[in-house]
Amino acid sequence: MLGLTVESDRRVFVCQYTNCLHNGSAEVLEAFQAHPVPDVAVVATSCLGQCSTGPTVIVSPDETWYCRVKPTDVPTIVEQHLIGNKPVTALLHPRFHPKY
Ligand code: FES
Repeated sequence: MLGLTVESDRRVFVCQYTNCLHNGSAEVLEAFQAHPVPDVAVVATSCLGQCSTGPTVIVSPDETWYCRVKPTDVPTIVEQHLIGNKPVTALLHPRFHPKY
């Protein structure tokens, strides 16, 4: 059995569907692509079902949902979460992370 750790085989899903695109998700995707992290793949996705609070970003397998992500938030997500393993609480989606 393969043992996967939280630090490896991560994926960052960035919605590229209509509502999120309207709110700048193409720039969010570009920002993640401009800040590559080893063993983390950045993936453009279709609608993630959270259109009113986009741009929507999910970090998997952590099951962390971020909402209203701006390109300027990306360096913080990269440094604090993808490298430092601490989710950026100010950007967590309250529907999935209600204590924030
Ligand atoms: S358009 Fe991005 S979550 Fe629906």
